[in-house]
Amino acid sequence: MARCHDLHCSQVRILQYGLMGRLKRILLWVLGVYITIPFLVKLCPSIQAKLVFLNFVRLPYFIDLKRPQDHGLNHTYNFYLQPETGVNIGVWHTVPDQMWKEAQGKDREWYDSTFKSPYPVMLYLHGNAGTRGGDHRVQLYKVLSLLGYHVVTFDYRGWGDSDGSPSESGMTSDALFLYQWMKERVGSKPLNVWGHSLGTGVATNLVRRLCDRGTPPNSLVLESPFTNIREEAKSHPFSMVYRYLPGFEWFFLDTISANDIRFASDENVDHISCPLLILHAEDDSVVPFHLGKKLYNIASQSKSLSGHKLQFIPFPVSLAYKHKFIYRSPELPHILSDFLGTTHPHA
Ligand SMILES: *[C@@H]1O[C@H](CO)[C@@H](O)[C@H](O)[C@H]1NC(C)=O
Repeated sequence: MARCHDLHCSQVRILQYGLMGRLKRILLWVLGVYITIPFLVKLCPSIQAKLVFLNFVRLPYFIDLKRPQDHGLNHTYNFYLQPETGVNIGVWHTVPDQMWKEAQGKDREWYDSTFKSPYPVMLYLHGNAGTRGGDHRVQLYKVLSLLGYHVVTFDYRGWGDSDGSPSESGMTSDALFLYQWMKERVGSKPLNVWGHSLGTGVATNLVRRLCDRGTPPNSLVLESPFTNIREEAKSHPFSMVYRYLPGFEWFFLDTISANDIRFASDENVDHISCPLLILHAEDDSVVPFHLGKKLYNIASQSKSLSGHKLQFIPFPVSLAYKHKFIYRSPELPHILSDFLGTTHPHA
């Protein structure tokens, strides 16, 4: 430095300070955002509810829910039901694959009448983000339909083309409404419930109510479930950057509770009395495997579940099914028919 010209030196210095200053500003800005977010969330708890439900995320965006045939579902009928005055919710009814030819061009009345056929029935409760037309969901409807199931799926209030805004109680009462609507049509035929991800929380809420009334469903399948929303939020990748911040629970987890969001499957399994099957991939990074395993351990201690079939099926990391791809398992039809006691048409 000593050897350089005065003019040259000052130019280098200006350049250095300019760069350092810019870097400092960026760092301060990042730090500011990092610190502001927890306070924002605490002040506006509805932000946290939006992050739990993610109902505003509509992927794929340009999908027309009125046209299930665009997804290869040529034996599916789209219609709307009203669980409450002013709340219309979008529903799809897929008939068993065996009926696909017969289903061409049929109306709602025909679809309704097919519930009387000897085929079993599944109510599917989807997770957060996206709609009933999400691809991993559609692929599962196809697996179930091929297994000889009617599949009824819908968007909770606040999701997809359904009215209203999301809440745990709204999701649960929509599920209950759909279940009763199906029950009226299927009569004494077995009615099964399937929940995925956040939908497993809705499913245990629903089945707990049904069991409390003395009318349990034929069976309950939980795909990638968690114990309760606090434990799930703690393990979610979104909370990674804040997990070790002092006050994390107060800022983030208490805010979820303040929104009346609990999804307490760990408590619900103590009130459930029907066969229960849990499916979980070991490489699930959205709902970690250990939470599904923990729920299974709690369920295996449950008095109300004792005497009922209880099964836990892990899918090894090598299969890479993660959070959404258990439908890809070639074993799934056999796992389901073994558990549910249905015959696999291609077996
Ligand atoms: C309709 O769907 C069924 C069942 O998924 C499939 O086997 C069939 O090939 C489809 N037919 C047409 C014309 O797309």
